[in-house]
Amino acid sequence: MKRVVFNQKGGVGKSTISANLAAQSARQGFRTLLVDLDAQGNSTHYCGVDINDDGLTVADMFKQVAGWFAKPEPPTAFIRPTAYNGLFVLPAHPSLADLERELENRYKMFKLKETLAELEDQFDRVYIDTPPNFNFYSKAALIAADSFLVPFDCDDFSIQAIDRLLQNVLELRADHNPSLQFEGIVINQFNAQAKLPVELIGALKAKSLPVFEQKIHSTVKVKESHSKRTPLPFLAPSHKVSLQFAKLWEELEKAETTSK
Ligand SMILES: Nc1ncnc2c1ncn2[C@@H]1O[C@H](COP(=O)(O)OP(=O)(O)OP(=O)(O)O)[C@@H](O)[C@H]1O
Ligand SMILES: [Mg+2]
Repeated sequence: MKRVVFNQKGGVGKSTISANLAAQSARQGFRTLLVDLDAQGNSTHYCGVDINDDGLTVADMFKQVAGWFAKPEPPTAFIRPTAYNGLFVLPAHPSLADLERELENRYKMFKLKETLAELEDQFDRVYIDTPPNFNFYSKAALIAADSFLVPFDCDDFSIQAIDRLLQNVLELRADHNPSLQFEGIVINQFNAQAKLPVELIGALKAKSLPVFEQKIHSTVKVKESHSKRTPLPFLAPSHKVSLQFAKLWEELEKAETTSK
């Protein structure tokens, strides 16, 4: 199962959610790959993988599939293990930003799908973190994936962003990946005491949009886990928000079983 976490709005929790769901999946015994397609490399860094070394990254993978890499490497060569059993990362690199135009001009958008298909036997679950843009990389991810999740940060501008996002993604789905499923909206940075988040969630439901039952609350523990470069299921498995990620992960798994 390959899931993309996407919202073109910045700072809504894409990297936090993709890394923590991937970590929870690994913790449950699934061999899990986190693909980081954002040149910022936040989820790569979060999982403790360094990209400022000589190791290969997803940027090299794109160069290879575009035919710009002198020595061909198998897809596994671009993947790094983490300190956590079962969790692997296909790391991002800042050079993704410079590569984008050339890859797009040369129609390489389907190459991620081909590479992930070659890795299908090696991973039980794949989570893909995307940049805050509907650009070459997020499109490549949405073409390669089985489904997508949309993080929502309980901000008024986010409602309008979701309408635009769905228009874009549904058009891409119709043209390039008809089996892509919209699994739902993940409510992040939820504050049960405030009125606005509850109203905004009501507005999403009034549009008949699928919203996951399990919300992710706002907590400084998320920032602490970023600074310790340790996803929550490994840093503090019994913390309230780790349990929320565990329940969200279960909700996803359950939906997957019932849709089969
Ligand atoms: N549940 C949460 N509680 C507290 N802080 C959070 C939570 N989720 C995310 N954050 C904070 O919000 C900020 C943005 O989160 P994150 O980097 O995951 O978003 P993003 O959508 O990946 O951003 P970008 O669009 O830049 O890639 C970070 O500083 C992160 O620590
Ligand atoms: Mg991010």
